[in-house]
Amino acid sequence: MRYERIREVDPAIADALDGERARQNDTLAMIASENHVSEAVMEAQSSELTNKYAEGYPGERYYGGCEYADAVERVAIERATELWGADHVNVQPHSGSQANMGVYLAMLEPGDKILSLDLTHGGHLSHGHPANFAGQVYEVEQYEVDPATGYVDYEGLRKHAEQYEPDIVVSGYSAYPREVDFERIQAAADAAGAYHLADIAHITGLVAAGVHESPVGVADFVTGSTHKTIRAGRGGIIMCDDEYADDIDSAVFPGAQGGPLMHNVAGKAVGFKEALEPEFEAYARQTVDNAVALGDRLQEHGLDLVSGGTDNHLVLVDLRPSHPDTTGKDVEEGLEAAGIVLNANTVPGETRSAFNPSGIRAGTPALTTRGFDEDACREVADCIYEVVEAPHDEDVVEGVADRVDRLTDEFALYD
Ligand SMILES: Cc1ncc(COP(=O)(O)O)c(C=O)c1O
Repeated sequence: MRYERIREVDPAIADALDGERARQNDTLAMIASENHVSEAVMEAQSSELTNKYAEGYPGERYYGGCEYADAVERVAIERATELWGADHVNVQPHSGSQANMGVYLAMLEPGDKILSLDLTHGGHLSHGHPANFAGQVYEVEQYEVDPATGYVDYEGLRKHAEQYEPDIVVSGYSAYPREVDFERIQAAADAAGAYHLADIAHITGLVAAGVHESPVGVADFVTGSTHKTIRAGRGGIIMCDDEYADDIDSAVFPGAQGGPLMHNVAGKAVGFKEALEPEFEAYARQTVDNAVALGDRLQEHGLDLVSGGTDNHLVLVDLRPSHPDTTGKDVEEGLEAAGIVLNANTVPGETRSAFNPSGIRAGTPALTTRGFDEDACREVADCIYEVVEAPHDEDVVEGVADRVDRLTDEFALYD
């Protein structure tokens, strides 16, 4: 039994935590932005550093007693520098969104112009959606993917940047299955006199492992999450050249945040150490191989993948051509009942609402962590297809749930 001390104080929360551990063990996490960190990362995140205020940066804190906080943050920075090769790294952002906020605050004035990918084409809220602070403080225009290919319309982006003259072009996406040509986007940003922010939230681990082209040394700013394809616990990171280091650091603190979550910075340090081991590259490669196997099998079943496949850790299925009367939400709900947890997603040229869109997004980072190979991912694709065919059929859902049970037993996450 885990969480014994919590149980003594707060049985309701202990029950919920036990339930969540069992849920993660007994279902397949296929939300493309999720993963399972090691027990070592979780131990770091629940350490005494949760008690410590450490406003400022190593060696320059506003509070005393920071010698161990300094040691932890210095190590996290060193390891991040080794992983991604940037001149300057800030490991304090509480999340990927806050990392983006740090870059905007450092480089833009209210009313300045952002050019980013449309949300329904795979962009992210923090790239200037009206519901996010970035959409409220800055002017935003959006580029799109080419409807014929599903790939970023690089030429359209270049022309758009030339006409709109943005202050910053944002690349890096939430639901984009293809390799991103960061150099081409940097060239378009340079020609328009704009900065380029490459948000690699989803592919941070793939870039660290050399499995995806790196924007570090190409884009002016690189941001990321530390809990998606890299297993360093929830958080964010910003990377840039030395010339922007002071601006970025003061935008994160005191600009956007107060005291850093030092327990999470410790989690990042531990997760980065794990990612520096040679096995991590094999993990990242397997993650991509698994997504390719998953996507190929879904296509063999007649499902339509945006862009016709994947180069990374996720596939995006457009249900409209094969199943025009089935929504992403129908499939998400049927699959969740069967123990496969993924999300309904908008697709380029979306004709439904963001809440009940026409696609599903499926990722392999978490399955790969628990040992799935291509064969196992093909079986998962078969399961997904069965539910797409009949999302509300209880017998189908029950049959798939049995197969999921066998897979979660074979690839157990926890004892
Ligand atoms: C491209 C992109 N940027 C930023 C984020 C935000 O990350 P976080 O949830 O860590 O704030 C996400 C989340 O999925 C994302 O996909």
